[in-house]
Amino acid sequence: MIECSCDKNSKDIYLPELATIKKRRMMNGTELYMQLELDASPLVYKPGQFVEVSVAGVGEAPISISSSPTQKGFFELVVRNAGNVTKKLHQMSQGDKVGIRGPFGKGYPADEMKGRDLVFVCGGIGLVPQRSFINYVLDNRPDYGEVTILQGTKCFSMRVYREECEQWAHRGDLTFMETVDEAHDCWTGNVGVVTTLIPKIESKLKGAAVFVCGPPVMYKFVLMSLAEAEVPREDVYVNLERRMKCGVGKCGHCQINHHYVCQDGPVYNYAALGTAPEAI
Ligand SMILES: Cc1cc2nc3c(=O)[nH]c(=O)nc-3n(C[C@H](O)[C@H](O)[C@H](O)COP(=O)(O)OP(=O)(O)OC[C@H]3O[C@@H](n4cnc5c(N)ncnc54)[C@H](O)[C@@H]3O)c2cc1C
Ligand code: FES
Repeated sequence: MIECSCDKNSKDIYLPELATIKKRRMMNGTELYMQLELDASPLVYKPGQFVEVSVAGVGEAPISISSSPTQKGFFELVVRNAGNVTKKLHQMSQGDKVGIRGPFGKGYPADEMKGRDLVFVCGGIGLVPQRSFINYVLDNRPDYGEVTILQGTKCFSMRVYREECEQWAHRGDLTFMETVDEAHDCWTGNVGVVTTLIPKIESKLKGAAVFVCGPPVMYKFVLMSLAEAEVPREDVYVNLERRMKCGVGKCGHCQINHHYVCQDGPVYNYAALGTAPEAI
């Protein structure tokens, strides 16, 4: 008799596990915050990993985990209403069930970064995956050096995690600077794109590891500003978003050169990537 070589006890990588929506609220006109719990056992993940979220009969979408694994008992997602699956997620209520596969990807090099100064440059919902690592660092504060966070959002009303940004701005152990592209009567802070903040933190960039995450258009200008500030490419990390299907390195949808973003990414060292993110 021929024995099947697969391990009968191993998890089926294509089979979603059920999760319950514990909390939900709109953060602004397009972004939904969700707090979830797997029904069977807690989700074990690393900062910067993502999950495939499925809605029965509709489909599946990759979504970054925005909470830190130091936060036990639940995980958090922020979902922009962009199409079929995400629209359906926006229509769901507390107590409803979704499917979860993952976590996938390697996420942030959290151990490698111990002892280093860290700078986070975030554009719009680029803050969502970065927040996972930021909160991990803040929960393990003695392990890391100086922390600087730059957040840029198109318009005042589209800001996400506003209360938390407010708390970061008042913490003594990090530097938080925020800007919006368009002036607003209710906004007394910086106005201008996120790159306008980079010259203000030039001294903090020396020797720091810089993590960049935002919309595709942002990378070109942020990377140019970092080059002007003489930050070596080896110290820059970019978060890539690709179309994904399987999430497990089988289908090739997410491939860039020899990288499978679903497996090796979504966070890449800029020097090691070998391709400018804006050219992808
Ligand atoms: C690793 C990773 C992490 C992500 N994290 C988040 C997150 O935290 N929050 C969030 O809101 N979204 C996130 N996204 C994007 C999200 O996966 C897409 O918006 C989602 O797949 C759209 O699915 P849908 O069925 O709702 O839309 P569809 O009906 O499939 O498509 C709607 C539109 O979006 C386009 N689209 C679909 N996927 C992508 C993509 N990956 N890149 C560019 N355009 C796309 C389609 O071409 C179409 O125009 C992430 C994507 C990746 C790859
Ligand atoms: S999504 Fe299938 S190989 Fe990455």
